[in-house]
Formats: sequence, C-alpha cells, structure tokens
Amino acid sequence: MDIRRVEHPVVRRAAEGLHNFNSRHPWSHNDHFHGWILANLPAHRGTAIDIGCGQGELVAQLATRFAQVRGTDLDAGMRAEAVQRCAGLANVTIADTQLTELDGPVDLITMIAVLHHLDAEQALIDIKRLLNPGGRFMAVGLAAPASIRDTAWDLASAVTNPLIGLIKHPRPARGGPVPPPFPVRDPRLSFDELHAVVRDIMPGAEMRRRLAFRHTIAWTKPNLEA
Ligand SMILES: C[S@@+](CC[C@H](N)C(=O)[O-])C[C@H]1O[C@@H](n2cnc3c(N)ncnc32)[C@H](O)[C@@H]1O
Repeated sequence: MDIRRVEHPVVRRAAEGLHNFNSRHPWSHNDHFHGWILANLPAHRGTAIDIGCGQGELVAQLATRFAQVRGTDLDAGMRAEAVQRCAGLANVTIADTQLTELDGPVDLITMIAVLHHLDAEQALIDIKRLLNPGGRFMAVGLAAPASIRDTAWDLASAVTNPLIGLIKHPRPARGGPVPPPFPVRDPRLSFDELHAVVRDIMPGAEMRRRLAFRHTIAWTKPNLEA
C-alpha cells in the first residue's frame, strides 16, 4: 500500500497538513545520503562516476577525493547546472554518456534516486563491468511499496520527515511548495523485487531500507571473480 495515495478523507487531510509542514521545513532526501557515501569510499580513488548527477552536488564533493570524476545526466538542463556547480574543478567532466557507452575501469560508481529511471538489471550488469576489482557501487534508491514491511517503513519515513525537517531547516521557508529541481519518476520495482535482481548480479551486496522513503545498496567488486 502506498500511504501517499490513500484516498480516505481523514488520511487525506492529515497528508495535506504534513505536506504543508514539510514544505515550510524542506530538506533533500537525496543529499541527506551524501555523508553515507563519503564515509564509505573505496581505498583506491582514481576515477568516480555519478550516474544521473542532477545538479552536480555529489560530483563536486567527490572531486576533492578522487583524481577524476565524471557526472552523467540525460537531462540537458541538469547537465548545465552541474557544469555551473563544478566550474573551476579541473578534474570533473559532465556528459550525457549512457551506462552502456561508458568505459572503465573505475573505482566508484554512485547513483542517487536514479536506478528506478533505468532498466535495473542491465544497469547493474554495466556497473559490474565498469568497476575495478575492489571498486565500489553505492546507490540510494526508491522502491514501490508492496509489502506490510514496506508500508511500515513508509509510515516511519512520513513521521520522521517533519522532525528531520525541523532540525535541518528550523526557520520556516517562505512561499509555497517548491517542485523537485530534477526529472522524477515513480519506481516500479518493490524493495524485494529489486533485492532479488541485486543479489543475482552482485552477490554479497548490502541492500538496506532507510528513512526518507529510500534504501541504500553497497557492493564492492571482489578482487577475484569466481
Ligand atoms: C531524481 S533525479 C536525482 C538527481 C541527483 N542524483 C540527485 O541526487 O539530486 C534523477 C536524475 O536521473 C537522470 N536520469 C534519468 N535517466 C537517466 C539516464 N538514462 N542516464 C543518466 N541520467 C538519467 C534525470 O535526468 C535526473 O537528473
């Protein structure tokens, strides 16, 4: 059950109230996970690629830690913003190159809220091919709620969302709700469905449910493939 789409009038009113509150105390559910990525970088830091880099915030942070950083995005507007954000960072390139066209090997591939825009199975196969042995894939994703467990996590996210908003953005923002700055899409696969694909292609990957309506995936390519 998707708690954001329940039509009961009482739930609807509560959801509208929460939405208005969250709009006054906004925070990025995506940028929130940059700290998790930066705290878990691989030991070798030659090249990193952020797929679907959006406005380039993570690319800019990776640029101080890797020799080369590539950001890719399908959307021309996003690429223009990422180029502007990374102006002056000589080790950064931003392009629209697709996963199938990228060449490796690379030490880190990141994806924040992007895997559900792609064919997950093909994307994971490409990422596995591109990574150096010892290289790491770190993703933050969205999944479609399908089980009671999914709904419980969504409820926990809905409850903690305004609390985290109050901490991160205590002074109420002026104006109404601001639309997402990047192209968005609803996820099709549930957590369990995606987990099965991840396990199949990246054995040993750690996939965890998180607050903020997100999950994380972390996988280090083994040094010796069986
Ligand atoms: C929800 S946004 C997330 C942006 C950014 N990662 C962030 O955390 O703010 C998804 C991004 O993926 C990009 N995208 C969608 N399909 C893509 C593809 N095939 N290759 C590269 N980027 C893609 C979109 O243009 C959009 O900027």
